[in-house]
Amino acid sequence: MNRIEKAAVNNPARRALQRFYEVPALLRLAGGPLPPGVRAVEIGCGSGYGTKLILDHFRAAQVDAVDLDETMVAKARRRLADRPGLVRLAVGDATDLKSAFGAKDGAYDAAFDFAIIHHIPDWRSAVAEIARVLKPGGVFVFDEVTAHALARPSYRMLFEHPEHDRFTAQKFLAELPRHGLAVTGAFTRISGDYLLGAARKQDPDRG
Ligand SMILES: C[S@@+](CC[C@H](N)C(=O)[O-])C[C@H]1O[C@@H](n2cnc3c(N)ncnc32)[C@H](O)[C@@H]1O
Repeated sequence: MNRIEKAAVNNPARRALQRFYEVPALLRLAGGPLPPGVRAVEIGCGSGYGTKLILDHFRAAQVDAVDLDETMVAKARRRLADRPGLVRLAVGDATDLKSAFGAKDGAYDAAFDFAIIHHIPDWRSAVAEIARVLKPGGVFVFDEVTAHALARPSYRMLFEHPEHDRFTAQKFLAELPRHGLAVTGAFTRISGDYLLGAARKQDPDRG
């Protein structure tokens, strides 16, 4: 993320949008707060605002949160200092949660992606890694920026993103079942610029 995007994502207006609009919408799509005792992973946690939402609104019992940028992880550490024992933070890559947390297959009940997968050049490998670490029946909650937004002149001028092989909402939603993730609900806003949704890891024994 460049400096302009860091300022934009950490802006109070975006935080209000997340808290008062996106979280209630995502909770509806995910079927409500998580059951008690749930262990969650958040990829691209940035400064840890989303991590707090996962604890306070989705009611995860424990969150492993990872980001590539150590300055963001340091901010998250400060933000979450009042939650000792509830959050493990790591500098690492969303496509390799084994290195970040030693995450085994099926390690988590829930996974969260607040606007990060569009930053990853091989975005399908991030989807595959989420599917790997989710338990059967586990929920994947996503809030993504699509190719439609990334192609806008304002986005291209202000921010830095990979340009090759970005996803539309349809392409992202079509990728999930290839990794055993069944979409339970999704919608786009601002003419397809942003995609919000939830999916469940299918249980291979139940078909
Ligand atoms: C647009 S910001 C969103 C941050 C946070 N989720 C939020 O909503 O405020 C994208 C974040 O993804 C991180 N990121 C990009 N590629 C990553 C990767 N491969 N693994 C982990 N984090 C990554 C960036 O460092 C940045 O903090």
